[in-house]
Amino acid sequence: MEFMLDTADLAAIEYWNDHLQLSGITTNPTILKKAAAVDVFDRLRAIRKIIGTAKCLHVQVVGESAEEMVKDAARILQEVDQSVYIKVPTTPEGLKAMKLLKRKGVHITATAIYSEFQMYQAMMAKVDYMAPYFNRMVNQNVDAKQVIANVAKTGKRTGSKSKILAASFHNVQEVTDALDAGAQAVTVGVDVVASAFANPAISAAVAGFAQDWQDLHPGKHVYD
Ligand code: E4P
Repeated sequence: MEFMLDTADLAAIEYWNDHLQLSGITTNPTILKKAAAVDVFDRLRAIRKIIGTAKCLHVQVVGESAEEMVKDAARILQEVDQSVYIKVPTTPEGLKAMKLLKRKGVHITATAIYSEFQMYQAMMAKVDYMAPYFNRMVNQNVDAKQVIANVAKTGKRTGSKSKILAASFHNVQEVTDALDAGAQAVTVGVDVVASAFANPAISAAVAGFAQDWQDLHPGKHVYD
């Protein structure tokens, strides 16, 4: 199981990288805009500095034609480093770009996925990750959990090495649904991650234990 953060916010990345078993960071132009990362490459290099080279960093192309996407990928790899996963929209132009990038040995994450069909095309292009947009599918009345379950099953049957990196979550239940359905990885926004621990029952349980410990050993906060 891989857990990634869908953000370009450096403070959030520092914090959660210290606290969770983070596998990597995913970004897209909207996320970079939200984090006011005007100097995009500076921000991406800063993210890499925090997470190190053992964790993956996913960066999206912005070009519209396959040739522009390949050019964008080269620039990203040159400005950040060669191990970046290049996010490519799963469109006809994107699929052509995936073919060209695959030949160059570039790590690829197929993105902007709303259907099983797109994921099967990405699988055949032998991408590393496929990012289905869970909440956006739900908003289109698509059973996102079933879509992921179907693709996970087909991936297993065909021996595909492309991993499902489910994305676009608006609550914790969607995240666990994607994992239950067979996604090998998820990328989650910091608001959703924070909300997972904001259950008042959790803090009430911890406060109860602290109070009982204090009753037993007033003034002592640790065992020593
Ligand atoms: C990640 O790959 C996607 O770009 C992202 O999760 C989309 O999320 P949103 O639907 O919240 O914009």
